[in-house]
Amino acid sequence: MQQNLYDDDEFFNKYLEYPRNTNDISGIQEWDSYSRFFPNMKGMKICDIGCGTGRFSRYAIQQGASHIIAYDLSRNMINKAKQLTSETDSKYIDYQIEDLETFSLPTKQFDMVFSCLTLHFLLDLDRIIANIYQSLETNGHFLFAVEHPIYTSSIKQPCFIELESNHLIWPVSDYQDEGSRKTNWVKGQVIKQHRKVETYVNTCLKHGFKIDGISEWGPTEKQLKERVDLKNENHRPMFLTISCIKQN
Ligand SMILES: C[S@@+](CC[C@H](N)C(=O)[O-])C[C@H]1O[C@@H](n2cnc3c(N)ncnc32)[C@H](O)[C@@H]1O
Repeated sequence: MQQNLYDDDEFFNKYLEYPRNTNDISGIQEWDSYSRFFPNMKGMKICDIGCGTGRFSRYAIQQGASHIIAYDLSRNMINKAKQLTSETDSKYIDYQIEDLETFSLPTKQFDMVFSCLTLHFLLDLDRIIANIYQSLETNGHFLFAVEHPIYTSSIKQPCFIELESNHLIWPVSDYQDEGSRKTNWVKGQVIKQHRKVETYVNTCLKHGFKIDGISEWGPTEKQLKERVDLKNENHRPMFLTISCIKQN
């Protein structure tokens, strides 16, 4: 494990104040970029990698999933996830503290693996994708979202530059130079891994996944009308979502 940000109580409490951490999925601006790829979850055994406060896991149970194993490194996250889970749902969701850098997922256990905004924290993408592949049944779904490589590329703190014409530019620099990026986020320095789009795509293909869709989130017309704070999100994609199927 490189860092366990969310077990710093001050970091964790500030993170919980972000709109995406309300218990309601409407707080997740990019929800549509994952949900468009959701399979019919009825009866599925699902794994939620880097589950955070467990929002997706609870959603999957509402959609009829039969069992979820939800892993996260952070004790604070897992405790919060358990608190937010009703007694009925907790019969179907098994929250576990594990470090995904070293932990091996069980073999051929899941019909779907979901991971939202976690893989860019992990150092070894090749290992985790191989691990996810072997944990899925044939035709199993792997759906993940990461911070978009255009968003993570800059070695300096990324930010918009305003031209004299008031037009905003998002500079893409250091894109080809994959590796750690230190950025200020929530309350201090956070280390994320910058990878190129081709690295995400080719790593999935190399391990035998078929890619059945990609999404680069941008706000919808409706979101732009309702949330003025999203207007600059049209300049570049902040999130990359890739949907894959295990072939055999
Ligand atoms: C940005 S949060 C996303 C949480 C949740 N998936 C969501 O969409 O709200 C990233 C999560 O990844 C977890 N994480 C980071 N590194 C990890 C590791 N090595 N093993 C397991 N979980 C990890 C963090 O603890 C955190 O809960």
